[in-house]
Amino acid sequence: MKETIVETPSRWGCEHLIERVLIPTDVLQRRIAELGEQISRDYAGKDLVLVCVLKGGVMFLTDLMRHITIPHEIDFMAITSYGVGARQSTGIVRILMDLQTNIEGRHVLIVEDIVDSGRTLDHILRLLWTRNPATLRVCALLDKKARREIDVPLDYVGFEIPNVFVFGYGLDLDEKFRNLPFVAVLKAEALEAMEGIEGS
Ligand code: IMP
Ligand code: MG
Repeated sequence: MKETIVETPSRWGCEHLIERVLIPTDVLQRRIAELGEQISRDYAGKDLVLVCVLKGGVMFLTDLMRHITIPHEIDFMAITSYGVGARQSTGIVRILMDLQTNIEGRHVLIVEDIVDSGRTLDHILRLLWTRNPATLRVCALLDKKARREIDVPLDYVGFEIPNVFVFGYGLDLDEKFRNLPFVAVLKAEALEAMEGIEGS
């Protein structure tokens, strides 16, 4: 069988958009396996509910849960954040789809794709705390720490990344390219050309 390199941008039709691959597939998967093992140890014997924030967290959730070896439930929340442009959040968050699970007294772990200013996560944390979970923690795949405006506690972090716009592995570029199995950096020219385009 012919070997295929999954990171080849032309395979995914985004060669004109990629500056470089920031986190290759094998590196991502190794780290996610470690996180899964750590979570399995930390929550052993506890009633764990993973809360995935749609849509960006979906790839991460489905890979992560394959490495969580203790019984647990999953649930989803969809939110929209009113941004200044497509790539900045104000933290004014509206719930598009709420949890179906009652989280009172349960151990809740939020599964997020990326934390940037921290505004979105801060809002979600405040909301979920009002429902009296036993514990409420956060597992974020990517941490753009340099951009933080609100200090949100991150209990598990996949990778700390520099202040660059990334896409792939759940993260979108105007709703596309969530399917890439790696995380890529957007070309500066492409970012400039897209600045001002509204989106979610
Ligand atoms: P925050 O409220 O500023 O922390 O923004 C968090 C949200 O902004 C994430 O859930 C993403 O949807 C989006 N976001 C922030 N940085 C990036 C990026 O580099 N690529 C794609 N989406 C991003
Ligand atoms: Mg997004």
